[in-house]
Amino acid sequence: MKPTRPTTFLQLIAAAALAISAVAPIHAAEPEAVKLQSLRGGLPLNQDHGSTGFKQERDHGPSDRDFVQQPPLIPHTVQGYQITKNVNKCMDCHAFSKAKASGATRVSVTHFKTREGQELDNISPRRYFCNTCHVPQTDAKPLVESTFQRARGLQ
Ligand code: HEC
Ligand code: HEC
Repeated sequence: MKPTRPTTFLQLIAAAALAISAVAPIHAAEPEAVKLQSLRGGLPLNQDHGSTGFKQERDHGPSDRDFVQQPPLIPHTVQGYQITKNVNKCMDCHAFSKAKASGATRVSVTHFKTREGQELDNISPRRYFCNTCHVPQTDAKPLVESTFQRARGLQ
């Protein structure tokens, strides 16, 4: 390997500037440190906020939808309702075979179709985790302002 040496004029200037700045620090105005804060505050992603004090809405009848394709909001609490590999608590009431006895709305027939378009006789894997789409509501204030308006056909 050849020994490195300053070759270009620019490199020489840079080396000189470095040498000078080492002796006399330049007092250029330092940019002020930006303090970033996300909606979840400064809490790292691998930690959860403790109890927020927000209350889930009391059980009530089905909510109005804001657009026709909207996954309906969950009109009841879901505390302790587990969805695991072996158990889906929601299907205890919402399955076609359970709905009559439970009084719950049957899952939509769209939920039986696989990604490839095949119709199954039970919930499709892509619809298994109900609360990726269906969510209950709390009395929490909105985090950001929204100008969203209900679809005209549903107003
Ligand atoms: C103990 C029975 C029961 C369980 C368990 C249950 N639900 Fe329900 N759910 C109901 C009933 C009953 C209604 C209908 C309320 C009404 O019509 O007044 C309902 C309504 C709903 C609706 C509204 C449907 C509409 O047309 O607006 C959604 C969405 C829903 N549930 C989702 C879920 C999800 C997701 C879970 C699991 C996390 C779940 N439910 C677990 C009984 C249950
Ligand atoms: C990928 C998103 C998604 C998942 C996951 C999902 N749903 Fe839905 N759900 C929807 C949408 C969108 C609608 C409204 C349009 C439709 O019927 O497909 C709906 C409609 C419904 C309805 C109303 C049916 C009606 O006749 O009005 C019920 C009840 C329901 N879902 C329950 C469930 C349950 C229980 C699960 C879990 C086993 C689940 N959903 C999983 C998106 C989802």
